[in-house]
Amino acid sequence: MKYFGAVIWLFFVLTAFPQSNAIAIIPEPVSLVQQQGVFTLQDNITITVSDDNEAAKVAGYLSNAIAVPTGFTTTIKKNSADGNIRLIITPAPGEAPGDEDYHLVVSPGSVTITARKAAGLFYGVQSFLQLLPKEIAGKSVIKGVSWTAPCVEITDHPRFGWRGLMFDVARHFFTKEEVKQFIDDMAKYKFNLLHLHLTDDQGWRIEIKSLPRLTSVGAWNVKKTGTFNYFSPPAPDEPRDYGGFYTHDDIKEIVQYAKDRFINILPEVDVPGHSLAAIASYPELSCTPGANQYKVNSGEPLMVWPPGGHFYGLVDNTLCPANEKVYTFLDKVFTEVAQLFPFEYIHMGGDETARNFWEKSAAIKALMKKEKLNNLDEVQSYFVKRVEKIIASKGKKMIGWDEILQGGLAPNAAVMSWRGIKGGIEAAKQKHEVVMSPTTFAYLDYMQGDAAIEPPVYATLRLNKAYQFEPVPDGVDPIYIKGGQANLWTEQVYNMRHLQYMIWPRAFAIAESVWSPKAKKNWNSFVPRVE
Ligand code: ACM
Repeated sequence: MKYFGAVIWLFFVLTAFPQSNAIAIIPEPVSLVQQQGVFTLQDNITITVSDDNEAAKVAGYLSNAIAVPTGFTTTIKKNSADGNIRLIITPAPGEAPGDEDYHLVVSPGSVTITARKAAGLFYGVQSFLQLLPKEIAGKSVIKGVSWTAPCVEITDHPRFGWRGLMFDVARHFFTKEEVKQFIDDMAKYKFNLLHLHLTDDQGWRIEIKSLPRLTSVGAWNVKKTGTFNYFSPPAPDEPRDYGGFYTHDDIKEIVQYAKDRFINILPEVDVPGHSLAAIASYPELSCTPGANQYKVNSGEPLMVWPPGGHFYGLVDNTLCPANEKVYTFLDKVFTEVAQLFPFEYIHMGGDETARNFWEKSAAIKALMKKEKLNNLDEVQSYFVKRVEKIIASKGKKMIGWDEILQGGLAPNAAVMSWRGIKGGIEAAKQKHEVVMSPTTFAYLDYMQGDAAIEPPVYATLRLNKAYQFEPVPDGVDPIYIKGGQANLWTEQVYNMRHLQYMIWPRAFAIAESVWSPKAKKNWNSFVPRVE
């Protein structure tokens, strides 16, 4: 009887929500009006596009997105507007238009996307592709599909200019091609910011030509398995051949690939904590002498996190704020980083700096005396302010995790609030720019399902909770909130399949939180669209 009830229930669910015909765009557009009829994609259609190089690239992207799963040939005609699909740049398609706004009309005879800039056309293309059957995301030709899109009129624009995902390529290295796959997926959901966490205790992932040991030594550790942070320490003779890094040419290719999908890349070099890969490469950067003790971490115990107490390091994995060589080193690093990444910000990390070795350091004591620093918060702040000057000297703005508030914020620093939203609130009150990325809503390394069936992680973030992400806290002036992002740390993520499992569908929830109007968010409409 129980099973009979379940079958009846299932029947009602399946008939009440005819998923295949429902319009399911993520993130939900500002305005969507369904109209009569469908547009049918066919072989030998024409895409016409305004005379604009960036727009022409969008036409090429669309042509390829159609060709791969359908096998259809499309012809792109520049500087005309009478094709089956029309991509049109117009000066002002709406009121107070922004560079990412678009207007999409699907009618039985044609598809028309108008936008002020190519970025808007690109987002219009993404919405159009989501109107087609899900097989449009196929990676090879799929036969027997009726390639129809319902007729609609959509007017759309993003709520925030910073719509990010962070990808930790330091804990585990992911190849250039895998980073491109990541970019392809984020572009579909109108994310425009890829934050690459490029350095950590477990690896340094970016070639710095003036500091070759960062990648000859710092990019490699020993492959171990088990529960990260509890791996057995590697023996001295175990091969250090697990890892990798991006050359300057790789980075240029990734940056261009992202740019073609209207995604900026924010590079992060995490200092002064999380710096063991750099210290293993150049041991003189630490306050604690002992060149031989420093090895790139392979997942063996490194930090201790007493419940409710202060964390501390078992090895000194921090750069020494009292050592001038550290600033010379960082000048070299940020010179090359600034040349490689066109984005206006550089992220300097700043999180989770263990201070137990600083406490014992004579050099730190001397620095405190000389600079009249009262405590280790102020030592950290001294370091962060000097880093800000270096980054500013390369023509870039600095952003850091919310610990950079400790001991006093650097004058122009932007803050990425991760330990909840309180750091972001504090920074906004001090009139600094903020990106919200709180663990409570946006940490994609946390388990998402029942602990009994998930690879174990110390915390859980359900889809429903991620959907409640609201980047602007009550009482905060929204002009300081640039937007939000979700973070994927990869201590326990070793490959792309696991990575995709962790990111989706929670990143759909984040995408909707940073793109769609607050008033449009609706869990009951979101769930069937996810499905
Ligand atoms: C962080 O999660 N440590 C920024």
